[in-house]
Amino acid sequence: MDDDELAVLLRNERYPRSAGYSGRWMVDGVMGPNAVWQAEALSDVMSLEPGMRVLDMGCGTALSSIFLAKEFGVEVWATDLWIKPDENLRRVVEADVEGRVHPVHAEAHSLPFAEGFFDALVSIGAYHYFGTDDLYLGYYSGFVKRGGQIGIVQPGLAEECETLPPAGLAPYWKWDFCAWHSPDWWRRHWEKTGLVTVEVADRLPEGWRDWLHWNEVCDRDSSAPQWEAEMLRTDAGRTLGFTRVVARRSN
Ligand SMILES: C[S@@+](CC[C@H](N)C(=O)[O-])C[C@H]1O[C@@H](n2cnc3c(N)ncnc32)[C@H](O)[C@@H]1O
Repeated sequence: MDDDELAVLLRNERYPRSAGYSGRWMVDGVMGPNAVWQAEALSDVMSLEPGMRVLDMGCGTALSSIFLAKEFGVEVWATDLWIKPDENLRRVVEADVEGRVHPVHAEAHSLPFAEGFFDALVSIGAYHYFGTDDLYLGYYSGFVKRGGQIGIVQPGLAEECETLPPAGLAPYWKWDFCAWHSPDWWRRHWEKTGLVTVEVADRLPEGWRDWLHWNEVCDRDSSAPQWEAEMLRTDAGRTLGFTRVVARRSN
């Protein structure tokens, strides 16, 4: 598929800021269902002001970090485990945000930052890999200033299921999807620490359609197997979607 066709297929009116970015750039950096769309959805419910210091935790190929730096004028520490910072630095330089996006190689339980260093913490398609532990938020929230926001968005369920896999999804289910949770689950998971006030815990409106749209275009572009798109079509938004949560560190 050529780049123009890809750009047309990826048009999505729910994400007007993302429309300014190359579809090929998004597909080349893919690690999940469009980090740029998800970053835009998270930014809709967070206060990001120019000059703020933002941690992008589990940034993967740093697309969301580049997007946030360009769109909001924030300075981003693009932190990831699997993707090496040399690779992300190359992307940062190509995107002309050198000095505004800082690639960092770190494990989520061993972050090389000072307490209270950040004005905001974001995590896109990643927090469920390390943040379902009851005690993790107590460690993580220490890196944002008191009163600062913590935002996550990632695959999730509409509601917690008594048994997994959810009805009808057994053919597609992978064991680690057990870390996908509902907005209410995340609200309780964070509120029970007493360390934050949850301001938003919702499903992205029509999020499952965006996820399916993204997968269908990527599958067409790469002729990859389509099991994930099939799973989303089968579910039709009954169970799967994106969970978005924003909280503020208490004083
Ligand atoms: C599915 S990818 C999503 C990447 C990117 N945010 C996106 O949406 O395209 C999950 C990311 O979480 C990061 N991750 C998983 N476990 C981690 C850990 N223990 N510490 C730091 N990062 C971790 C991985 O390095 C990976 O890049």
